[in-house]
Amino acid sequence: MTIAAVEFAKNNQARFVEELKDLLRIPSISTDPERAADVRRAAEFVAAELRRIGMENVKLIETSTPEIVLAPCDGPAQVVSAREGHPMVYADYLHAAPVNGKAATTVLVYGHYDVQPVEPLDEWLSPPFEPTERDGNIYARGAVDDKGQMWMHVKALESLFATNGGTLPINVRVIIEGEEEVGGEGIAAFVREHPDQLRADVALVSDTEMFAPDLPTLCVGLRGMIYTEIEARGARTDLHSGMYGGAAPNPHIALAQIIAQLKDSNGHISIPGFYDKVAAPTAAELAAWKTLPFDEEHYRETEVGSIKLTGEAGFSVLERTWARPTLEVHGIAGGFTGAGAKTVIPARALAKISMRLVPDQTPAESFALYKKYVESICPEGITLEVRLIHAGDPVVVSTDNPYVRAATEAMHTVFAKETVFVRGGGSIPIVGDFIRELGTPTLLMGFGLPDDNLHAPNEKFHIANFHRGIESIVRFLSSVAAI
Ligand code: BES
Ligand code: MN
Ligand code: MN
Repeated sequence: MTIAAVEFAKNNQARFVEELKDLLRIPSISTDPERAADVRRAAEFVAAELRRIGMENVKLIETSTPEIVLAPCDGPAQVVSAREGHPMVYADYLHAAPVNGKAATTVLVYGHYDVQPVEPLDEWLSPPFEPTERDGNIYARGAVDDKGQMWMHVKALESLFATNGGTLPINVRVIIEGEEEVGGEGIAAFVREHPDQLRADVALVSDTEMFAPDLPTLCVGLRGMIYTEIEARGARTDLHSGMYGGAAPNPHIALAQIIAQLKDSNGHISIPGFYDKVAAPTAAELAAWKTLPFDEEHYRETEVGSIKLTGEAGFSVLERTWARPTLEVHGIAGGFTGAGAKTVIPARALAKISMRLVPDQTPAESFALYKKYVESICPEGITLEVRLIHAGDPVVVSTDNPYVRAATEAMHTVFAKETVFVRGGGSIPIVGDFIRELGTPTLLMGFGLPDDNLHAPNEKFHIANFHRGIESIVRFLSSVAAI
């Protein structure tokens, strides 16, 4: 039956890609309130396909996130119910035949159908929501993160249903969220409130990368994160900079001064206590990372494209991006940035700042340390609001279980290479909840490539990897039925 499903997938490759393109045409940008209807359309697209291939109990589950205060620089603070209601797509198939008298394994398949914003638009060689094939790749926002990888699972399940008499050899629950790129608070609340509805023996996630082309990879750690905003206020309203300059506080300068004290020129975060809980990777992990095919100069030149790499002295690039926390500024807004000149002392300024966390740091404690420190260095005449936008725990996943062995065997059949174990610098907030709240071992089996331009212009997915991913998932799901 495995072979038949693999054959089915091979015979339907062209159709699978065309369907993915239809999904990629839907601009499901979760952070943009104007796109809420498109986000929902993408959820419905996925639900319809799950229903068509034979999944049961297919439904959209509505989510809501707590109210937060949004304070744009160009207007008064407003309380909005943030990004409410991007639905999750749920489906299951729970009557696989027992194997040798034992209930069949239940696999929780997770993915996300929401995508990042597309700016800067003029750097795209083809429009982000007009999927275009070039050089064996499919270019579009969401191609690899995560619509393309999520679609691999749907197509693997279809291939199994189609060649297994309309049934599956394993029990499957599918949960596809629409808020991963904005923190995943909705699904986290759902997991806390309804743990039984996602109960499974193992979770399978394809939302990470391969370490190098042709190198099957399991990701065994993700950084956590806290995403924050600092709003600085000075005068009651914008002021003439000649009349008041010299007497009125300037919130932009205040933010610059604060930001300059968050990280020193050696890449070390200056928040007192911030590193106290940082756990070093094991000696075995560090030794394994040294054997990975990594060329720092090639990475600098082709992936980063800067004249020099920066970061903490004494740590390799892989350690710095996988096992050390970092702090980044994403944007600073406010005041006058239009053409020409306007002499104004702005009343407000806003900075968006995030920190990536590693085991055993916690979001709550890290945010408390950060907030306390920022408030302690607030320049005179300025009032600050330090807000937490979203948070997620760092994770390391165990490699010592039969599911990991099944995954490496499945990928060995497809790639004819031994799997490498890596960590990822990025975050997938719900993975920590799967592990901690549900106690479900989680496999991060990703098929992206290092140069797939996630979150950047010209995001792509290598089409060969889309098909190899489907085959790997078919083989994995078939082989874990009896574990
Ligand atoms: N798929 C990524 C996470 C990722 C990418 C992990 C590459 C490992 C390697 C995910 O969609 C993502 O971008 N997550 C956000 C989460 C955040 C908004 C809470 C991230 O990491 O910035
Ligand atoms: Mn993703
Ligand atoms: Mn992403």
